[in-house]
Amino acid sequence: MIVVDSLSKAFKRKGRRVRGESRHVQAIEKVSFTAADGKITGLLGSNGAGKSTTLRILATLMKADSGNASIDGYDIGADALQARQSIGFMPHNAGIYPRLTARENVRYYANICGVPPQQAEKRIAQLVEMLDMAGFIDRRAEGFSQGQKTKVGLARALVHSPQTLILDEPTNGLDVMATRGLREIIRQVADDGHCVLFSSHIMQEVEALCDQISIISNGRIAISGSHDSILKNTKQTNLEDAFVAAVNPQSISTHTSEVPQ
Ligand SMILES: Nc1ncnc2c1ncn2[C@@H]1O[C@H](COP(=O)(O)OP(=O)(O)OP(=O)(O)O)[C@@H](O)[C@H]1O
Ligand SMILES: [Mg+2]
Repeated sequence: MIVVDSLSKAFKRKGRRVRGESRHVQAIEKVSFTAADGKITGLLGSNGAGKSTTLRILATLMKADSGNASIDGYDIGADALQARQSIGFMPHNAGIYPRLTARENVRYYANICGVPPQQAEKRIAQLVEMLDMAGFIDRRAEGFSQGQKTKVGLARALVHSPQTLILDEPTNGLDVMATRGLREIIRQVADDGHCVLFSSHIMQEVEALCDQISIISNGRIAISGSHDSILKNTKQTNLEDAFVAAVNPQSISTHTSEVPQ
């Protein structure tokens, strides 16, 4: 389970500034939500909303300026190592080593995570089947298509069968069949009792897959809840309209207390 409590993070603005412009970009501000075991939680937001920043902090790749979060009870600051061990993380651009083959990339990560070699090979064989990677598993990753890189990133996130799976835009670059396959995998992982948190800017994807949704806009959580409760609280009939209503301050005056004023 993931508990996020009031995380904030600002970055220094790079390049020349227009006079009067702030020195900082407030990437996320007081972000709070939870992602339960056995459920798929979607972090839905537009480009630049703060999704990757939030997920990178949860994956312990970056420190927040303030706030807390825990993964399976492990504080991401004080117990970073334990927190890291209980997650599988797929970053936005997969971040795989181009000189290694796909198999070596996944195997290397399994090794880092302490999976015994025999068990790792078995698991890799399973993942190759699940993610349809047989055609390129022994090719060097240099020159891989976006979809192939995404699959390697996913296999790497899943190889140690983590309790919690955090995926940053996992369908990025995947074709229709691969996207369907991925959805099935994510559903299966959650049905097996794991916690799945993924980010997306695609309404239909989040609508089709998520048990819980947190909408993030300009670094703040605009609303969280089940699909139905979000529609109810925004008085809308579809997620797209609910998204617009939740992120647009002018249209939230009639919302319940779930929407920050
Ligand atoms: N390393 C960084 N240095 C400076 N600014 C950053 C950095 N990382 C993120 N930001 C800024 O923080 C804000 C949030 O970025 P973030 O990458 O979290 O958004 P996102 O929701 O993942 O967007 P996208 O859908 O485009 O991936 C943006 O304004 C971005 O420019
Ligand atoms: Mg991002």
